[in-house]
Amino acid sequence: MTTPTQPDETDAFLSVTDLHVRFATEDGVVKAVDGLSFDLERGRTLGIVGESGSGKSVTNLTVLGLHDPRTTTVTGTIHLDGQELTGAPERTLERLRGNTMAMIFQDPLTALSPYYTVGRQIAEPYRKHTGASKRDARLRAIEMLDKVGIPNPRLRVDDYPHQFSGGMRQRTMIAMALVCDPDLLIADEPTTALDVTVQAQILDLLKELQQEFGSAIILITHDLGVVANTADDLLVMYAGRAVERGTVREVLRAPRHPYTWGLLGSMPRLSSAVDEPLNPIPGAPPSLLAPPPGCPFHPRCGYTAEVDGERCSGIRPALPEGRGAACHLGAERTRTLFTEQIKPRLG
Ligand SMILES: Nc1ncnc2c1ncn2[C@@H]1O[C@H](COP(=O)(O)OP(=O)(O)OP(=O)(O)O)[C@@H](O)[C@H]1O
Ligand code: SF4
Ligand SMILES: [Mg+2]
Repeated sequence: MTTPTQPDETDAFLSVTDLHVRFATEDGVVKAVDGLSFDLERGRTLGIVGESGSGKSVTNLTVLGLHDPRTTTVTGTIHLDGQELTGAPERTLERLRGNTMAMIFQDPLTALSPYYTVGRQIAEPYRKHTGASKRDARLRAIEMLDKVGIPNPRLRVDDYPHQFSGGMRQRTMIAMALVCDPDLLIADEPTTALDVTVQAQILDLLKELQQEFGSAIILITHDLGVVANTADDLLVMYAGRAVERGTVREVLRAPRHPYTWGLLGSMPRLSSAVDEPLNPIPGAPPSLLAPPPGCPFHPRCGYTAEVDGERCSGIRPALPEGRGAACHLGAERTRTLFTEQIKPRLG
């Protein structure tokens, strides 16, 4: 158990360092997060991308303290505003959840209760965290519904979730998450279940609300198009590790990791013909019960021959601080490869 530390003015608002999350299962130990570090400042949005199973949700549920301590081992440090969260007592985490940090889940139908009105579901956490009266909490719920763009909020506040469309339910989730003005908002695939037009509206709404509330946002998504328009910084995850990081602009313009090249190559492009086949990354993500040694991407990587000897399968490449990629090719070689071979293919 880690001892809580005093706030340190040099720390980022959220600072995750060497985080490991392991699950004990009947088949063995799942290494869901394996040495992850990242920082996030207030007012900025960090996009986290990676294939299914790369550890995006587990990372963020761990930040919120929403893991089962009976089956989960967490090591490393999670500093939020100078406070250490790993090993913090449940009552501390409960107070922080909703108040200082909040989460928007992918599927509003599982997160919203069908038995309570949307107004009550927005008002309850507000009452719990601020001690406001029922009347004030109801007014706050109406105000929040208005902020997230629900028409006639005074009438709709008494509706049940099934009376709302998918987009309106997702807006309600955003209202619930923001009602206590959290400093950290984690949005896990907040728009995947929505059609493209509503997706764009919800992402615009998140950006607007961020400007108003000044929160730090973590946006988890499969979709590089979503981060391109919404995030400032980007973390690419593979097999529970960060393999590349930088500003969104840097990573999308000049990606340095072969896995990021694969993700970009598998993305549908607006300019392409509708029936143009995508180029999925060959192979499948590795088992986290027994991840490959060395670089976890090596069984799927087309560039191992560019690296001397058995380094890719034998030595784990480190992710440098700041802008960079965890790859033995090194910054210079990846830059040349990207410019000469990858970029022309991406078009
Ligand atoms: N409670 C658990 N017990 C055992 N394994 C788990 C548990 N929760 C998650 N995992 C495993 O941890 C890995 C990371 O899961 P996680 O949900 O973080 O992936 P993800 O990147 O969010 O994927 P997706 O894009 O599909 O949401 C997966 O292999 C998953 O099966
Ligand atoms: S370290 Fe080797 S296997 Fe891993 S991404 Fe770089 S070239 Fe590919
Ligand atoms: Mg997930």
